[in-house]
Amino acid sequence: MKKITIAIDGFSSSGKSTMAKQLAKKIGYVYVDSGAMYRATTLYAIRNGMTDKETGIDTQALINALPLIDISFAITPEDTQHTILNGEDVEKEIRGMEVSGWVSPVAVIPEVRHYLVGLQQQYGKDKGIVMDGRDIGTTVFPDAEMKVFVQASPEVRAKRRYDELIEKGTPSDYESVLANIKERDHIDSTRKESPLRKAEDAFVLDNDNLSREEQMEVLVKLFDEKTRGED
Ligand code: CDP
Repeated sequence: MKKITIAIDGFSSSGKSTMAKQLAKKIGYVYVDSGAMYRATTLYAIRNGMTDKETGIDTQALINALPLIDISFAITPEDTQHTILNGEDVEKEIRGMEVSGWVSPVAVIPEVRHYLVGLQQQYGKDKGIVMDGRDIGTTVFPDAEMKVFVQASPEVRAKRRYDELIEKGTPSDYESVLANIKERDHIDSTRKESPLRKAEDAFVLDNDNLSREEQMEVLVKLFDEKTRGED
């Protein structure tokens, strides 16, 4: 069967990573978490003194450092995907609130986007890929055969993210998680460079009231429709 490209976009914590991962596993495709790439770049900036509460991000220093930022993914023996920044497993650190607080302003910088979009297009050049993010169906793979746009209310998303952080042992409070989600929604959808928006040809999946199993059914049906007749 001919391989296709699958783009899954949506708001923060809409569950798109979980669904993209599950779908990729089920159909034997590669999964790439583009948000993890923005998060790893942000961690690099934090660690190298390029973020400051008073003065913000040292944009020029970060742009100059981009060629030094190597991001890859590794599969652990437990079969989970971990993000590797310059040879170091940073999966846990990039999910914390410090990175979450800086990632959207970092993702606004056009040079950062061009650099990461280039890497993402490289990963997808042979198709057979599921990538999730904010601009996958609009900018990274505008010709993707299957595009999904995931939505859920901010409160449902904050509850999911809060539960996830607690489960991972990261101390958190629901109100700050909700505030961070709303702030990122705002920055992500109003930025100039490839803002978060639904591609015209994307299928909208509202998952406020859908279980993981139900949303998988919807996705697999869509995948079957898109690949039917292709050989
Ligand atoms: O997992 P969560 O929904 O919190 O976000 P993520 O997918 O890890 O992405 C973190 C941040 O990276 C987003 O809030 C965006 O600011 C940025 N991002 C982006 O601008 N473009 C993408 N394709 C993916 C993420």
